[in-house]
Amino acid sequence: PVLVVDFGAQYAQLIARRVREAQIYSEIVPHTMPTAKILAKNPAAIILSGGPSSVYAEDAPAFDSAVFDANVPVFGICYGFQVMAQALGGVVTATGTSEYGHTTLSVLSPETLLDETPSEQVVWMSHGDAVTEAPSGFKVTASTEATKVAAFENPGRHLYGVQFHPEVHHTAYGQKILERFLYEGAGLEPVWTPQSIIDTQIAAIREKVGDAQVICGLSGGVDSSVAAALVHRAVGDQLTCIFVDHGLLRAGEREQVEKDYAAGMGIRVKYVDESARFLGALRGVSDPEQKRKIIGREFIRSFEAAQREVVAEAGAAGKEVKFLVQGTLYPDVVESGGGTGTANIKSHHNVGGLPEDLKFELIEPLRQLFKDEVRALGRELGVPEVIVKRQPFPGPGLGIRIIGEVTEERLEILRAADFIVRRELTAAGLDDEIWQCPVVLLADVRSVGVQGDGRTYGNPIVLRPVSSEDAMTADWSRLDWDLVARISNEITNQVPEINRVVLDCTSKPPGTIEWE
Ligand code: XMP
Repeated sequence: PVLVVDFGAQYAQLIARRVREAQIYSEIVPHTMPTAKILAKNPAAIILSGGPSSVYAEDAPAFDSAVFDANVPVFGICYGFQVMAQALGGVVTATGTSEYGHTTLSVLSPETLLDETPSEQVVWMSHGDAVTEAPSGFKVTASTEATKVAAFENPGRHLYGVQFHPEVHHTAYGQKILERFLYEGAGLEPVWTPQSIIDTQIAAIREKVGDAQVICGLSGGVDSSVAAALVHRAVGDQLTCIFVDHGLLRAGEREQVEKDYAAGMGIRVKYVDESARFLGALRGVSDPEQKRKIIGREFIRSFEAAQREVVAEAGAAGKEVKFLVQGTLYPDVVESGGGTGTANIKSHHNVGGLPEDLKFELIEPLRQLFKDEVRALGRELGVPEVIVKRQPFPGPGLGIRIIGEVTEERLEILRAADFIVRRELTAAGLDDEIWQCPVVLLADVRSVGVQGDGRTYGNPIVLRPVSSEDAMTADWSRLDWDLVARISNEITNQVPEINRVVLDCTSKPPGTIEWE
């Protein structure tokens, strides 16, 4: 892989994505990972990301300069550029002038990185300190008005660096520059395509499964559907999908999935109603992490309960189900604290929420992928477009969209409001534009209202429309006010328990997309 060393800014994610857009597999590692461990991963190249620190700060993330002698191509970006300069004998200075935002870069000599790009170009800068002298043996290839050394390289040692951020869209030739590093600087080939991922995964799944029985927890969403399609292509009828109705679904959800699957997936699906099990287990619980763990556990219990019938229906009576397929994605792993060096933000039901006594072996063919990559894979596999395009809906469903205890009555209220929001957003033609729009019931909050001539004392409901590329970061969607007004009127008119509609205008970070 290409390893992106994370120095603690949000840019590492973005860099990893851009490398993948260049069709090369990348992974993020924390800067605290020992060099020996980094090299043991056999990196084809290493990219040092930006970071919030000054290389001179007391608590500046340290980095072992042995990496630069390992004969692995390295590309330093922003803070990573300064780390490289300092480690190899250059000079980094707190110049007192900082550059933020759009800046004009003048190319002094195109060399490897800047070849085939214009001699003057817009780049995006964000730094206080600056490299004032390149290490010996390095050629300075570009500068800006405030920064003498804005890019340098030493092709003999395969070391490259830039002060600006090639990974952000504001840098006009950013992707080109990154690709020049990958293809020319590191000599890599763009081979990480949907087809190659499919081929590799199918071979791995066949090898792992042999002639055993496999079940897949199916929600009908993109992730589990693509995972199921992949496994089905690998082992055919040894796979049975299980759709668990946990009582936390949106209005019409199960019917929708049944229809879509009957129309085009060609995979055996078993539908089980486990709502009593889930709602019973959730009674009296309002802590978000506890809810997530309970839901994760009850999913597994439901699969175990369905197991015997599944093998019988698959014509393999007496056999045991050995494997469970999950559509876990890379961001689920990272946010559940399973990425290297990352904090647990929330336990995704299929990662941090799994019970310890899990008897199934997991098959998670999408564990390294972002959502848009999964969609590309789905299209390549022939998964119907209605499924591939579906907006994300979390496995724990409405259970994490009721702030407070989950009850039947509260679910009914939320379902009614959610139905109106979805109907109006679809009618406004926004389904492709909006990443998803959670509707959240603040069940423990009440506010005074007036309706007709009377006083009301009801619950508020929150609209959380967001745009995003991969759910790791998001921005709130600027919906048309008339549309917001229409949704608000409809909800307060038709759902008597709700007397207030609130719009969530928080990006991620600092908010997450879901409220729990
Ligand atoms: P957050 O709330 O962390 O959500 O910004 C990021 C994306 O993940 C979805 N999500 C989940 N999906 N199981 C899932 O399958 C979960 O436990 C879970 N929690 C959050 C969320 O809807 C958003 O798309």
